[in-house]
Amino acid sequence: MKFFIDTANLKDIQEAVELGVLDGVTTNPSLMAKEGIKGTDAVMAHYKQICELVDGDVSAEVIATDYEGIVREGEALAELHPNIVVKVPMIRDGVKAIRYFSDKGIKTNCTLIFSAGQALLAAKAGATYVSPFVGRLDDIGADGMLLIQQIVDIFSNYGYPTQVLAASVRHIPHLIQCAELGADVVTCPLSVITGLLSHPLTDKGLATFLADHAKVNG
Ligand code: G3P
Repeated sequence: MKFFIDTANLKDIQEAVELGVLDGVTTNPSLMAKEGIKGTDAVMAHYKQICELVDGDVSAEVIATDYEGIVREGEALAELHPNIVVKVPMIRDGVKAIRYFSDKGIKTNCTLIFSAGQALLAAKAGATYVSPFVGRLDDIGADGMLLIQQIVDIFSNYGYPTQVLAASVRHIPHLIQCAELGADVVTCPLSVITGLLSHPLTDKGLATFLADHAKVNG
């Protein structure tokens, strides 16, 4: 399973890189805004910085919602760095653009997936990744994990190469369930990745080992 970090924060990305378990990065316009990145030049420069930090795919989202605009923005993003994956919303013109990008060999991540049908459509258009939003489905009382299971099963039934990138992953049980269900990728905040380190019995066991060692060795 690949671990992506869902942030545009360079410090968090660097910390995840240093842990040695990071496979890529996802961003979105909200995450870019949270870092105060504004204006096309600054946005492009920021994506480039992220790409230089990480040896893996970096999803950069288009703002346009019309076919020509999505293609124009996506091509400019893809030219920035080979790590860039053009993130495209699940809308009619987005699906058309994913087909265009796929035919040109440009990697895509179809975002804002909330149903198995949307995922199937994106896969048929040639998306590299689909991003079902687990947490946001849970927020409205739906079952985010059921969607992951449906998409994993459907893609496996037909051998679609599109990867299931579980997004809006908010906590450790989300991540573990995605792993159990066979999602190809999870993207989550740094706190969820580092949260995997901890168990009270690990802390207690280590303290005992060190204390026993000190008793004999001083
Ligand atoms: O990758 C999508 C993600 O950023 C959405 O997460 O927690 O805002 O639903 P969240």
